[in-house]
Amino acid sequence: MAPIRRRLTRLTALVGSSLLLTACAILDAGEDQPLTTFEPAGPFAEQIDSLFWLVFWIATGVFVLVMAGLVIIVVFFRDKGKDDQKEPKQLHGSPKLEVLWTVIPALILAGIAVPTVSSIFELTECSPDAMEVEVIGHQWWFEFHYPEQDVDTANVMVIPAGEEICAVMTSDDVLHNFWVPALNGKRYLVPGQTTTLRLEASEPGEFWGHCAEFCGLSHSLMRTRVEAVSQADFDQWVADQLAPATLPAEGDPGYEGYEVFLNKACIQCHTVRFDDAEASNIVPPEEFNGPDLTHFASRDVFAGASLPEEGESHDEALKRWLANPPEVKPGSLMPPLGLTEAEIDALIVWLDGNE
Ligand code: CUA
Repeated sequence: MAPIRRRLTRLTALVGSSLLLTACAILDAGEDQPLTTFEPAGPFAEQIDSLFWLVFWIATGVFVLVMAGLVIIVVFFRDKGKDDQKEPKQLHGSPKLEVLWTVIPALILAGIAVPTVSSIFELTECSPDAMEVEVIGHQWWFEFHYPEQDVDTANVMVIPAGEEICAVMTSDDVLHNFWVPALNGKRYLVPGQTTTLRLEASEPGEFWGHCAEFCGLSHSLMRTRVEAVSQADFDQWVADQLAPATLPAEGDPGYEGYEVFLNKACIQCHTVRFDDAEASNIVPPEEFNGPDLTHFASRDVFAGASLPEEGESHDEALKRWLANPPEVKPGSLMPPLGLTEAEIDALIVWLDGNE
């Protein structure tokens, strides 16, 4: 085979296989690749998806037309090796053509700009009757505060399916970015500012998200999950979250762990609301805060939703975490507390009881 043909064959194989792999990646986007925009689960993500396909097909049309024109020119006007071959008509400097190939792309771009710009606004401007959830970014976890319900939680945002949620977002420290691809696009969490993002899941389900702005050492471990549930389940969840934790009495299974919580540094950062108001440990919002632990066990993930890792039990992960947080999550603002194994085990018993 001539070297040029061999090279062409190789190039075709390379381009062909990359196209095929890209197609596989899109089709395969499932449980093992939860961060995909190709599986929209609500109206706002669907709007992004439709816009993507609109632009994709317009671009494909342009690609096909340009390539077809190129092939036609190459085939018809190639050097046929004949002496009497006439030179094709030269078009350089034709004002008609220049205007045509400036106006057509300009019209296409203007056409794409209309739905794109309107989507940018529609995706972030909440309807007045949307349910509000405040999203506060911390290094490295998301806090969710429900002002209407007076609920405060971390890592997992529980929402009623089929209802619009207005995420009112800010950051406690540096820039973060809230991104749950099945529900909407990305939006910044800016210290000292408020941004909004509309979220809605059409059906109940679990949707993973991730901080999408580099925000320090453990940015890659700053995950989140939205859990859409039925309205009845949501009301039940709110009622459960509003209930205080039981203050363990001496001799109760969680008592030793509660003592560790009181006597080690935990109480400086973590709020726990007990049924005995006087014993409650409320850390004011303006002070340095870790996640509210009143209903710690109602969340199946912790440490910025990065734990437990796959194949690890909740308690195994919790043990690893309590022994040395910065080792599990580099830069973690929760320091190693020098707990003994017995103290860690006791803490786990108490925390597991805070459902
Ligand atoms: Cu927060 Cu990256």
